[in-house]
Amino acid sequence: MVSDLLTVDYKKDFPLLAATDVAYLDNSATSQRPTCVIEAERDFYLKHNANPLRGLYQLAMEATDAYENARIAVQKFINAKSEQEIIFTRNTTESLNLVAYSYALSVLQPGDEIVTTIMEHHSNMLPWRMAAAKTGAVVKYIDCDAEGYISDAALAEAITAKTKIVAMAQVGNVLGRLNPVEKAIELAHAVGAVVVVDAAQSAPHMPVDVQKLDADFVAFSGHKMFGPMGIGVLYGKKKLLNKMPPYCYGGEMITWVSRDTQEYAPLPHKFEAGTVNAAGAVGLHAAIDYMNSIGFEVMEAREAALTKLCFEGMQKLEGINIIGSQKWEEHKGIITFTIDGVHPHDIAAIMDADGVNIRAGNHCAQPLLDHLHCGATARASLAFYNTEADVQKFLTCLGSIRERMGYGR
Ligand code: ALA
Repeated sequence: MVSDLLTVDYKKDFPLLAATDVAYLDNSATSQRPTCVIEAERDFYLKHNANPLRGLYQLAMEATDAYENARIAVQKFINAKSEQEIIFTRNTTESLNLVAYSYALSVLQPGDEIVTTIMEHHSNMLPWRMAAAKTGAVVKYIDCDAEGYISDAALAEAITAKTKIVAMAQVGNVLGRLNPVEKAIELAHAVGAVVVVDAAQSAPHMPVDVQKLDADFVAFSGHKMFGPMGIGVLYGKKKLLNKMPPYCYGGEMITWVSRDTQEYAPLPHKFEAGTVNAAGAVGLHAAIDYMNSIGFEVMEAREAALTKLCFEGMQKLEGINIIGSQKWEEHKGIITFTIDGVHPHDIAAIMDADGVNIRAGNHCAQPLLDHLHCGATARASLAFYNTEADVQKFLTCLGSIRERMGYGR
């Protein structure tokens, strides 16, 4: 046993995992959901379903309470000062688009600069390009080195008096490396710029404390942190959100509307037009409770032990190229790789035949793969519920692929 920690069976909490022998190693794409999350969503529809924030009858008030309690759970989870700073969205992508459409389009002037990195997911790149195209601002990329490292010097060179927005993933979805977000925030604030943190790949795996970070905006998704699909979060500092115009217009985002004028609702409802995903928020609340019941200490220790096992096993095999850092400690559960002479889609198909689920392709991060000159890749991504058996199954399959594709071992 690598660690006593790994002897605890968490898969029993996840009905899909408990019912199969498949090694699910595509957690960066989406995680599985525990029974308590599935039951919480079901319970909402079975017992409390009404349109939240509108009805004055008992059931509608129950729905409103369930929805707003979920917001408080998120507030505590990321240590935001106020629940008004928590906006429910569909996912990280929508959260980032909200900032781009509402904040960036309002503040950017021709010649202003948006600084981001070459390793961003398309969701943290294309909204900024849109904002730049509409305002005459410029998007500047910070390159990482071959190991995925972004130096303080590179940050200092990129962030200047012209910078208005810095957008950066806390953990990249291809390289799995923890980025120097704290340093970026320090440098950005020194020149009066705001920082947007893409926490899609960090919030499920490590504590994200928005006050400690002093981030201006933080975006993440429920479905990568054991919650439902279709519910995401945008955290924003109240002073910024208060000044921003709505991003989507319609019902429940106003306090009154006359024939020609309207007054927008206070935070957070100004940014939540239309019927909300209350069941999704309730499911996310259950996911947060579940994560809290295990604790990040345990989750991170398990993920680290599994990452080490997987990484060191891969290093022993012929013809496997791990992309990014060559130290397992610098991969937060994400290991992207290629096999000499084998297309990543073939790797994923062979893995699937052997009962191992991984992702292959460009991982919605084509500019990074171009920068690293590696084209399509395969990616294994771990969660705390994975086991040594999952990793061994992956390694056994991986070790056989070159031979199965007609190469010597
Ligand atoms: N952003 C998700 C991934 O990296 C879908 O796979």
